[in-house]
Amino acid sequence: MEIINRRARMASLTRKLRRENKTVGFVPTMGALHEGHLRLVEEARQMCDIVIVSIFVNPAQFNDPKDLNKYPRDLTNDAALLTEYQVDYIFAPETQEIYGENFSTFVYVENLTENLEGASRPGHFRGVATVVTILFNTIRPDFAFFGQKDAQQVAVIKRLTQDLGFDTEIVVVKTVREESGLAMSSRNAHLSSDERQRASIIFQALRKAKLAAKEGERNAQRLAEIVREKIETESLAQIDYVAVVDNETLEPVEKIGVDAVLIAVAVRFGTTRLIDNTVITRTK
Ligand code: PAF
Repeated sequence: MEIINRRARMASLTRKLRRENKTVGFVPTMGALHEGHLRLVEEARQMCDIVIVSIFVNPAQFNDPKDLNKYPRDLTNDAALLTEYQVDYIFAPETQEIYGENFSTFVYVENLTENLEGASRPGHFRGVATVVTILFNTIRPDFAFFGQKDAQQVAVIKRLTQDLGFDTEIVVVKTVREESGLAMSSRNAHLSSDERQRASIIFQALRKAKLAAKEGERNAQRLAEIVREKIETESLAQIDYVAVVDNETLEPVEKIGVDAVLIAVAVRFGTTRLIDNTVITRTK
């Protein structure tokens, strides 16, 4: 495994791989790898000849400088893990390698980025879309792997891939969960062990709504209430939002129809804000 820091070197290497007809799988990360990331790597390893993982803590997607500063960074540990998972290359550029002097070009995906996470993290998705565009442009992967837990990020990246004409297939990998059902996230490390146990209420609530939909509940507001009521049984939980939206456009829906519907939630436990979701699909 090789660690690459320069964009030009990364681009020339992937050019060579394309000439050799190798399929390139790309897993973008900000490091602090957990089982959720490693699941993406496993999927990439199964599907592609070459696996590239980027580790870049992207300043443009943080709206609070304190969050950026306290974001865990441990390249040595991440690299050791990725060696075990037979990754071929790590792309770990310094900030100025991505955002050079006088950097002034940003990618803004309209309509998908103002609600849900976008509402409480202004500018976040502009930062995500910009860095993913730069990374895709550098690597030109055949496949790129993202976790379903960040459902809005998935919708934004699918949109920009299509709109900007990247020849990259976006592979969405099922959320990896702790034994309790809590979705894996680097933020879970900020929870006390009591909070961590109690935070499984989020998964229980989503599961309850999914079951209700399966049993015939089509009213989106009722499904949101089911989630809300269940989460509210946990005194430590502070709901930020419960939203029932179209899985692709992220527009609110009133009735569950034939298109996939996303139930997305954000809940605070103490100072830690957790997100999770479930997708409801009905056969035509
Ligand atoms: O999901 C993440 O870790 C980040 O948003 C990503 C996609 C690596 C962009 O910085």
